Amino acid sequence: MMILRSQIARISKSSKLSVNLSLRYQSTLINGQSYSRDEFTNAPSSILALTERQLHQQPSHPIGILRSLIENSLNNYQHLTAPSPIVSTYKNFDELEFPEDHPGRSLSDSYYLNKTTMLRTHTSAHECDVFKKGTDKWILTADVYRRDEIDSSHYPVFHQMEGACVWDDTTKNVEKAIEEELHLLEKALAHTNVITEDVTVNNNPNNPYQLSQRPEVSGLIVKHLKMTLNLLVYNLFKHAQNVDAEPLKVRWIEAYFPWTGPSYELEVLWEGKWLELLGCGVMQQRTLERAGMGHKSGWAFGLGLERIAMVLFGIPDIRLFWSTDARFLSQFESGKISKFVPYSKYPPCIKDVSFWVNKPFHENDLYEIIRECSQDLVESVECIDNFVHPKSQRHSLCYRINYRSMDKNLTNEEANDLHASVIENIKKAFNIEIR
Ligand code: DAH
Repeated sequence: MMILRSQIARISKSSKLSVNLSLRYQSTLINGQSYSRDEFTNAPSSILALTERQLHQQPSHPIGILRSLIENSLNNYQHLTAPSPIVSTYKNFDELEFPEDHPGRSLSDSYYLNKTTMLRTHTSAHECDVFKKGTDKWILTADVYRRDEIDSSHYPVFHQMEGACVWDDTTKNVEKAIEEELHLLEKALAHTNVITEDVTVNNNPNNPYQLSQRPEVSGLIVKHLKMTLNLLVYNLFKHAQNVDAEPLKVRWIEAYFPWTGPSYELEVLWEGKWLELLGCGVMQQRTLERAGMGHKSGWAFGLGLERIAMVLFGIPDIRLFWSTDARFLSQFESGKISKFVPYSKYPPCIKDVSFWVNKPFHENDLYEIIRECSQDLVESVECIDNFVHPKSQRHSLCYRINYRSMDKNLTNEEANDLHASVIENIKKAFNIEIR
């Protein structure tokens, strides 16, 4: 991954965050802390500037409102925040047993400050640290960073909530303790109109209970996990769907995560499609041992906030969460779920760029350059043509870029200028030939 001069030079002017990035410097200075740069460094200043927005800490921002709603629904859990997104690669990956060749580790998928320090890609990076403090039942909210495509539901920063619940497994009473809680969850669920489709299998050979755990305990933990999350999802989606008239449908499927076993995903039926909400599972004893909690057993989950907020508040484009326009921000009020009223839909300016590629390139690098050149003025980028010339064997690609501002009318001249700068920068970055 290369860093362009233009990327480095652009430091958000309004930003209070002190970010100092330059090729002349051997290190990046963030809030007084210096991070040495190396061949892994790929986090642009525009992304680092977003680390200070802290949308989840704003009580009347949709992300903050949703966070409170979840915290109120899980009110017997300790509520935590992890302010700095800068973590070690060990915390983000190794401590959770991600394999060495996991794609999430690649420079094309994640933002690195250097080889050993990165912007967290998920809130699970904090699991062991929270457990080390001896907290048994907790939920933690934070912003997470991933290099990704550009469309209405993908943005390089989003928010997650991590939750966990563990019990002391050294006493015989653990089963009784879980069963008592199950009883309360059953009672609460009896008042809901939710249909649960569960296609998972207990102790599935492909997603088995852990050998070091008594199967009765694993079974109870799984039950507690599923009931807790069924109730949570119901408490959220009852604000979006008339659940008295139509039951909410949720579905459990088998999954794989390196630090849980068994592992699952939960989906909800929304407008005729299954929407993936979260990943979860029974904590691997090895991971708990690493956190000094080997004598405990329990579950963990990780939930994305934007997708749910888009449904609850009727927000059509993920870029809107980052808008500082009063016409967006003034629509929301702490503690209230209200439908977003679009204040404008300015016309798109569609521009194509076609080029011959001379060496392998990753689409996420292209998306990042487009984002860096045009900030939030690009609504989507789509590959519309991809062919290999039969004679020359040269590879041609064509991308369609949809420039559209959420806040104002973007003139064709402005879009042309943005497009010219996109072309200029991708030419430099990939050494390609524009067609
Ligand atoms: N961190 C996972 C992700 O971002 C989600 C997740 C899966 C969190 C399983 C968990 C878990 O705590 O147990 O996709």
